[in-house]
Order: sequence, then C-alpha cells, then structure tokens
Amino acid sequence: MLKYGLINQLVNLEKKDFMMKEKQQYWILETKQCAYAFGINNAGILENVYWGKRLESQLDYPDLPESEGWASFNGPTQVLQEEYPVYGGMCFHEPCLKITFKDGVRDVVLKFESEKSSNNGLIITLEDIHYPLKVNLHYQTYSEYDMIERWVEVENLGKETINLERVFSALWHFPGGGDYFLSHLTGRWNNEFNLVREPLTPGVKVLESRRLTSSHHHNPWFLIDDGNCSEDNGNVWFGALSWSGNWKLTAEVSNFYTTRIGIGINDWDFIWQLKEGEVFSSPHAICGFSDKGYGEASRLFHNFIRDELIPHKNQIHKVLYNSWEATFFDVNEPSQSRLAEIAAKMGVELFVVDDGWFHNRNNDNAGLGDWWPDSEKFPNGLTPLIKKVNSLGMEFGLWLEPEMVNPDSDLYRKHPDWILHYPTRVPTLARNQMILNMARSDVQDYIFTKIDKLLSENNITFIKWDMNRNVSEPGWNTAPGDQREIWVRYVKGLYKVWGDLRTKHPEVIWQSCSGGGGRADLGILNYADQIWVSDNTYAIDRLRIQYGFSQIFPAITMESWVTDADRGMLPLEFRFHVSMCGSLGIGGNLLLWDEAEILEASHWISAYKNHRQVIQFGNQYRLSKEMMQYMSKDAEKGVLFVFNTGNNDTQSHNTINLRGMNPEVKYKIEGIQEILTGADWMKRELSFPLEINKSLFLEISKSK
Ligand code: GLA
Repeated sequence: MLKYGLINQLVNLEKKDFMMKEKQQYWILETKQCAYAFGINNAGILENVYWGKRLESQLDYPDLPESEGWASFNGPTQVLQEEYPVYGGMCFHEPCLKITFKDGVRDVVLKFESEKSSNNGLIITLEDIHYPLKVNLHYQTYSEYDMIERWVEVENLGKETINLERVFSALWHFPGGGDYFLSHLTGRWNNEFNLVREPLTPGVKVLESRRLTSSHHHNPWFLIDDGNCSEDNGNVWFGALSWSGNWKLTAEVSNFYTTRIGIGINDWDFIWQLKEGEVFSSPHAICGFSDKGYGEASRLFHNFIRDELIPHKNQIHKVLYNSWEATFFDVNEPSQSRLAEIAAKMGVELFVVDDGWFHNRNNDNAGLGDWWPDSEKFPNGLTPLIKKVNSLGMEFGLWLEPEMVNPDSDLYRKHPDWILHYPTRVPTLARNQMILNMARSDVQDYIFTKIDKLLSENNITFIKWDMNRNVSEPGWNTAPGDQREIWVRYVKGLYKVWGDLRTKHPEVIWQSCSGGGGRADLGILNYADQIWVSDNTYAIDRLRIQYGFSQIFPAITMESWVTDADRGMLPLEFRFHVSMCGSLGIGGNLLLWDEAEILEASHWISAYKNHRQVIQFGNQYRLSKEMMQYMSKDAEKGVLFVFNTGNNDTQSHNTINLRGMNPEVKYKIEGIQEILTGADWMKRELSFPLEINKSLFLEISKSK
C-alpha cells in the first residue's frame, strides 16, 4: 500500500511544472538528431515517455501519462513504461534490479531522491523507502553520434550486507505497440556474427552468454525496427553492452502489447554481496536512434567506437603478417625469418609470431602459462628475430594467451590452486587447458609481470591476446565473498591487468581474440584496437561473417587475413578483396606461394595502403551483402568492392545505387566512362555482372 501513499504525494503535477528547471521532474536528453525523455508520473514512478527523433521544441515531448491505478492482476510494471523497473510490488515482467535484504525481504520500492545534471550528463538518484539503499541512474549523451550511455550504481548505505541478484545496466521501451523486429548476431566458433532479424511476439526472448566471455554465440548488441526499414530509411533503435563477460538481454513484448529490452550482466548463477558502504557499478550500456535505417545505425556505432573507444584513435592499422596458418606450432628463428623476408618483400609492415614460440610449446598439450621464449626454438631469445624483422623494415608482434594454463607447465606445477576449479571435481580440459582465476590478485600480478617483462625487454609493438576455451567448474573456494561473484570479478581482473599493461606500454597495439570472435564487444575495445573476427578464413564465409560484424564494429577493428584455406579454390584477387574490406593481414604459408602470387600480393597490399585511410576511417555503406562502398568523411573519394559468390539472393548483377556522395561534386568511378555528379550517381541504377567467384575493387574519385 505504500505505493499509493506516493501517488498522493505527487498527484496533480502538470507538465509545465516538470519543464521548470527548479522542479526537475521531467528530463529530456537531446543529441544532434534524437531525444530521450522521462519523468516522474503522478504515482511517483519514473516513467519513460519518449525515445526517437529530436523534436523542434522541448514542449513537443509527450506528457507523462496519468497513472490511474491498475487492475488486481496487473501492477505498474505491466502497464507503465517504467524507466528502471525493479522487482517489488506486483512486478511480473523482467526487472532491472532484484535484491534480497538481510531480513529476507525480496522487495524493492524506490522513490525519487535527487538529480544532478551537467552539460551532457545526468544522474537520477532513487532511494528505497525503507532500506538504506541508493540507486544512481547515470545518463551520458554523445550528441555527435546520437548515442546515450547508461549505467547504474547500487549503493549500500547501511551496515547489513545486501545480496544483489540482478543489476541490469538499462532498459528501453519502444514507442506505441508491439510490432517490432529484433536484429541480433548469432553463431558459434568458426561461424560468428550471423545476422538474424525476427519479429518479437508476446513473451520474452533471451539472448545471453554464460561462457565467461561475451561469446561467439550471441553478441551483446541489438537493433529494433518497426518493419518499415531498409539500409537507408526507417526508424531503428539500437544498443549494446560494454562488457566482456556473462551478459543477458531480455526482449519482452507484454500482454498490453508494449515492447521493451533490458540488458546487463547475466543474473544466471550470479550474486553480489554488497557490504556496508559499498557501491556496485554496472557495465555501461549504449543506445542510439536513427530514422535513416540499418546503415546509419552502423555508421553511428562505427564513429563512436573509432572516436570514443579504441585506444589508438587516429592511428592507421598496419598490414600485418601472421604465421599461425603457415607454421602452426613449428615456430623457430629460421622458419620465421624466411617468412619475414618474403612478407617484407610484399610490403607487409608488421610481422606477428603466433602460438608456439614459448617454453615447451610444441603442440597444444603444454606450455601455456610459461611466457618466456622456448630455448630450443629461440636459443638467444626473441631479440635476433626481432632485429631481423626490424631490419627488414617491419614491426614485430607476438601472440599470447595470458588467462590460460596447461597442466603440463611450470606455472601449473607451482600453482595448481590458481585455476578456476572445485576441489572435489576434476577440472574439465578444453584444448588441454584450464582457466586461471583472473579475480585473484596473485594471478593478475603474475600475468602483468610476465607480459611487462616481454614488452620491456623486446621491441614488440603488437600483441594478439587470445582466449581459447569457455568456462567450466567456475569455482573459487577461497573467494572473499560468495563464489558466484567470480563472473564479475574475473572480467574486472582481466580489465585491470590489460589496463595496467596499456598504461605502462601505451604504444602497443592489442588485438582481442578468443578463438576468433569470441570476445568482440565494446568493453574489450577500451583495451584492444582490433578484433580477430573468426578462425574461419574462407573468403566466401568471411564475407557473411564480416557483413554481420559490420553491423556494429568499424572496418578498422576488423582484422582479416588472406590465407591458404581457399588457395586454389578462389582467385587470390578475390581473397585479397575480402580482406581489404577491413584491416588487411596475410596468413598464408608464403614459402609455398609462387613468384606470381607474391607479385600479385604486393600489388594488392600497395593498393590497400593507397586506400586504407578511406576504408579504416571513412563511412561504410552496405550496398548489398556482396557490395561494399566506403567513402572518406569529406566524401571526396571512395572505394567500391563487388563480389559474386554465386549466392542467388545477393548476386552482383542485382542493381544498386551508390551512397554517401556529395550531390554537387562530380565523380569518376574506375572502369566507367561517364563522369557524373554525386546526385546522379546515387540515382543511377548500377549493376556489375561478374562471373561466380570474381570480384572488383574500384576507385571512386572526385573529378575536376
Ligand atoms: C586461436 C586463434 C588462432 C590462433 C590459435 C593459436 O584459435 O583464433 O588465430 O592464434 O588460437 O593457438
């Protein structure tokens, strides 16, 4: 009944009151093109009223709907657009917060306490009406990208420990009705980032990871559209969670036909004991809106990631060579030197030695954890090879899998208790390895010290940070609190070590890999500049995987190698073109490539270098699944990739329109005689009939 008390307190407030600064009970967050509004309704409940295109005047935003009470079968969470619904009262929908207090009460009742705003930030503080519990809802706008970042802090102001059982970072409502479509990315190892679009129907659709990483299987990203949408037009609402561990997304259509999406740390097997005076901060979630379709939604994310997230913001990514698929574990100074010589001749700028270089690593049975050069393979350490690579004009990079340990390693023999495990269970091995408990400070110190030593003693400018298995037996019997805190403490430990290494060695570029794209999320992009998207390097598969990846991640983060997987099956040109759509790398066994292949490779590497500014930093337009256009930010130049994979739906002879050009500027498209203005090109129906397995890479240039 307490809630009815609150209704009476705030009843009769009118919108104009809300608009008055001093009252501060209706908030509008505006970005360049979009707006998000919520306020306190007459029942004292924080209610969302608007998320969409920015309106002309602040007075145009909708009033808070009156809360007139509810039927005995439906509480406010069912019928209102609660901004941050909690489990308490009559809440049968997916809540954002679920708590058990010390006395066993599992019911939260929050009331508005205060607000604090700055130019682009807002904090709404709510307090429980009985228990010493504070919830701060944080909002931060990124006007330029039409994005709003949200996260929450839960604070225990009392003496008794509070058990947090779910803390979502944000929940969003979609305007009027339930006819929405959800796009998301799904897959598995070797087949990541498949784009799925499906109608949402009454009930809850859950996407999640329980694997300790964000996972190959689902990505913590969503896009909602209202059914009238294309790459270029239509309303889209989208968001993502900045978190590299277990996460959960609930997309719910209510029986009142309203649609909402919540996102946050997964509450599966989760608990957090919030002790006296402690604050629990959720990961950040980011959301955006556009009325210009799927393509613009992606470009907003691309810009945001490039400008706000990745550590080396304006740095061109070098063309790299990675030796994994060439030599596997058979790594030594002579074999790598020979590869390096050929790579340098082709124009490669960064030579990366993958798995197999460290102590006792001859196959995947041993070595993980012992991060020093194997004395048989590298009798004089890595220095001679690095010097050789540098003398060839290339930088040097190295592969590491810091979170892992093999039973057959010096590290495990010394510290068997450092792995995630239950003492009464035999640890499940996957790829013959176990997971170090990154939540432990001694583990963090060990990893930091070993990598710091490698980076301090060697001229290494690039690290590929891998993680090649998912979790099992997530036990930690000496944990300071409940063992289920491991899911969060592990990720925080990972971020700490990686962050400390970045601070000490700011020049190093890191790549995030987890058997391909198993840890590709906004959280990891605070540390890594790029992502190894998939272990699947077949160019045709890669096109599909890259298409999905591009929904959220920009080309600069998309490391893509030309390998031998499809050598002899597809022309080298085709394989290069696919990899040139991202951050180009080469991963084939160059010792087997003939002179003609080396020559052709040099040609494409040089072409890529000429155009990579546009590919890595420009605007990307998905003309179809097989046609990608990139335009420089000033729309002065661009490139066009066309592929024919033989897939009936997407063949290159389907007509397309070019995009992203300046309507007034005249352009030339390589291979086409006419010179037209951007306006005319964008109207012109173009098709590029190609034979199956053929591709084109065309330059778009401004014409005098
Ligand atoms: C993972 C990576 C590969 C390679 C191997 C090495 O599978 O995705 O690129 O680094 O590990 O063991």
